[in-house]
Amino acid sequence: MTDPASTWSAGTDSVATGSAPVDPRTGPQTAVPVLDRFRMDGRVVVITGASSGLGAGFARAMSSAGATVVLAARRKDRLESLAEELRSRGGTASTVACDVADPDSCAAMVRAAMDEHGRVDVLVNNAGLGTAVPALKETPDQFRSVVDVNLNGAYWAAKECAAVMEPGSSIVNVASVLGLTAGFAPQAAYSATKAAVMGLTRDLASQWGARRGIRVNSLAPGYFASEMTDEIPEQMLADITGSTIFGRLGLQPELDAALLFLASDASSFVTGTSLVVDGGMTLH
Ligand SMILES: NC(=O)c1ccc[n+]([C@@H]2O[C@H](COP(=O)([O-])OP(=O)(O)OC[C@H]3O[C@@H](n4cnc5c(N)ncnc54)[C@H](OP(=O)(O)O)[C@@H]3O)[C@@H](O)[C@H]2O)c1
Repeated sequence: MTDPASTWSAGTDSVATGSAPVDPRTGPQTAVPVLDRFRMDGRVVVITGASSGLGAGFARAMSSAGATVVLAARRKDRLESLAEELRSRGGTASTVACDVADPDSCAAMVRAAMDEHGRVDVLVNNAGLGTAVPALKETPDQFRSVVDVNLNGAYWAAKECAAVMEPGSSIVNVASVLGLTAGFAPQAAYSATKAAVMGLTRDLASQWGARRGIRVNSLAPGYFASEMTDEIPEQMLADITGSTIFGRLGLQPELDAALLFLASDASSFVTGTSLVVDGGMTLH
């Protein structure tokens, strides 16, 4: 029997750029150089929470890898200026105001993406709220608002996207290491939702894999510099960086590369998993 690895490792006779996504139920059917398996040309990527922080960085990364990006969040003005920036670099980008906590708003987001671009290949479920409130002081509304965005919002957006996605599509749910381990601040709502997102990921991967050819994975970042981490007090930040093997926060390009792997054909045999990118924070 021929070793399948030998067939693909030296392939140079076709290029993935602009080709249909690889259906995970069959795997790659043509020889494609390995770096081309990461290309996103012709793919339409919806990114929630693209108005700031990691989501804006993900949009820049996906666009630079060739994708058409649909930027979604509540602050439309921020989305517009990011879209303008991407277009000025030759990218294709559109914007849509969306409150992910509202299922109708998620439906409208996907309708807008379909009307404008005709397909959705990737959803990056990145919108998130990172509150820190001691449990005995946290009000029901405070707790619910985090669940509404981080968990329910991810579910509404995934359902709407999966309904229009073709085989080979990929959903990436942005979870957190706080779904796996205790943090440094009182974050019951946040930690609970991020653990739940990993459970959601496993279940949707199982529901939509064989039936629809859609892969669902989660990305679990450690602490990355962003507007969310800007609010962390100095001493706590020192504790956080000290808990990593490398003694620092993660940087956006380090997370972009992991997202690109999960979003692209490079991960066509990967589903239901959680990719931890935390500088070794959860080792101990
Ligand atoms: N930074 C980190 O170290 C870190 C670590 C682990 C996980 N994460 C996760 O990474 C994701 C991005 O976090 P970040 O650090 O980049 O935070 P951020 O800068 O505060 O960005 C959060 C984004 O979510 C959007 N958002 C919030 N509520 C929304 C809603 N109801 N509907 C639609 N969009 C909403 C915000 O946009 P609008 O306000 O314009 O709606 C914003 O674009 C989150 O899921 C977070 O939990 C971050």
